[in-house]
Amino acid sequence: AKTHFHGFVVHETKVNRLCKTHNSITVNGQFPGPTLEVSNGDSLVIRVVNRARYNVTIHWHGVRQVRTAWADGPEFITQCPIRPGGSYTYRFTISGQEGTLWWHAHSSWVRATVYGAIIIRPRKGESFPFAKPNSDSVILLGEWWDANPIDVIREATRTGAAPNVSDAYTINGQPGDLYNCSKKDTVVVPVSSGETNLIRVINAALNQQLFFTIANHKFTVVGADASYVKPFTTDVLMLGPGQTTDVLIKGDQPPARYYIAARAYATAQGAPFDNTTTTAILQYEAINGTSSKPIMPTLPAFNDTKTATAFTTSFRSRDTPIVPTEIDENLFITAGLGINQCPPNANPKSCQAPNGTRFTASMNNVSFVLPSNFSLLQAHHQGIPGVFTTDFPGKPPVTFDYTGNVSTSLWQPIRGTKVYRLNYGANVQIVLQGTGIFTAENHPIHLHGYDFYVVAEGFGNFNPKTDTAKFNLVDPPQRNTVSLPVNGWAVIRFVADNPGTWIMHCHLDVHIGWGLAMVFVVDNGVGNLQTLEQPPQDLPTC
Ligand code: C2O
Repeated sequence: AKTHFHGFVVHETKVNRLCKTHNSITVNGQFPGPTLEVSNGDSLVIRVVNRARYNVTIHWHGVRQVRTAWADGPEFITQCPIRPGGSYTYRFTISGQEGTLWWHAHSSWVRATVYGAIIIRPRKGESFPFAKPNSDSVILLGEWWDANPIDVIREATRTGAAPNVSDAYTINGQPGDLYNCSKKDTVVVPVSSGETNLIRVINAALNQQLFFTIANHKFTVVGADASYVKPFTTDVLMLGPGQTTDVLIKGDQPPARYYIAARAYATAQGAPFDNTTTTAILQYEAINGTSSKPIMPTLPAFNDTKTATAFTTSFRSRDTPIVPTEIDENLFITAGLGINQCPPNANPKSCQAPNGTRFTASMNNVSFVLPSNFSLLQAHHQGIPGVFTTDFPGKPPVTFDYTGNVSTSLWQPIRGTKVYRLNYGANVQIVLQGTGIFTAENHPIHLHGYDFYVVAEGFGNFNPKTDTAKFNLVDPPQRNTVSLPVNGWAVIRFVADNPGTWIMHCHLDVHIGWGLAMVFVVDNGVGNLQTLEQPPQDLPTC
């Protein structure tokens, strides 16, 4: 196994998009940022230097970080932010993961432009569990604002209203030729007749689940979130932010130019969303030049839950994994939006959600508040009192019709930095239940520090009597982000074998800001191999 050394300098760079020049935060002046290419078993040492005007941390999304929670990256959870002028070196090892992950900033909305791919190939001497593809490429789906994204979220925080929707989606940082001033920079993916290409699709958008398709070509899905799956074919993918999907496509169509396209899968009823389409071009090598008009695919309608569900329920682990069966911790966690009344002494300008309220969100009616003086991991490791409380409830405070017409008394969560404590090695099951509080929508729920098995998902209220029978304990897919269906539920299982403080949150950034998050504190086990490492010397302080 190899050790890869990288330097990431975070700084503002001039970026031209949608007919304007922007000062965007980038890594090493690149947007999207550098791709990390490694093999399973390799280690990474990445020194991040912050030359931007904002706090920064980098999260290696989906990397398990076994015993290296200090390198996970979410600000105030596993580290204090790297202040402007500061630096921090992340050190971690990839173990037992193959496929595609990604990295992104985990501080405010910096990740709008600070993200990149992580490609994990099989170890030397080992091969893919499918015929070696002729080419290997990355598609990073993103979301672009004409305004500075940090200003967009600051303004939303000030007003309590929803932030402005984006002005474009992007493929590898480029909006594509359906947007103004974007034609000449449209991304071109080459393909040769008869060859098979591996395409690694990553949804790095801030706030939007996306449908993804290529005109006239079928996908064979082979992996997701750096785990292999039983291959299945589909015309369209749906990815929540945070998710990755590896697909094979075959150059089996008449040589021509075909659009690669993505647009929103938007489920929040009546809420505005960016209803535009981003494109790139799949171009056969036999075609010279760019004059022929690309063939356009049909994308599902923005609210096509049927297509989205058909896709998300097709995943099965490639091998037969060991799924925990005896459950030690059986949690039921609701996820949904809410509102807070405008405090009596507040400026009404800061309460511009419906009827003079502020938007909020919660899990089990707790709206998560980040600490500010210490990271949770530091507080846990050093026993610093007063930073968090361990009373995150393992079930909602009251039982109600979660997806029905919910009484307004349930709309207002309490605020707090509440964690749930897990013993090392506990077998954990979580029923994630979406709520119809305020408005129902999908929530891509991401857990740090673990992959989990998605054993079942469905619509309506989870019913333990009838739904338990639907659990797939044979070959459930292993993921780090599950797309919790609109007005529905999903059940996940994992073994708590990684000590540290691990945030579980909705990967729509607007929902994190509103508090749709909670944290697990996993204690050390017995002996060195079950114990969190010592903090690095250069760990930033708050
Ligand atoms: Cu991809 Cu907590 O993040």
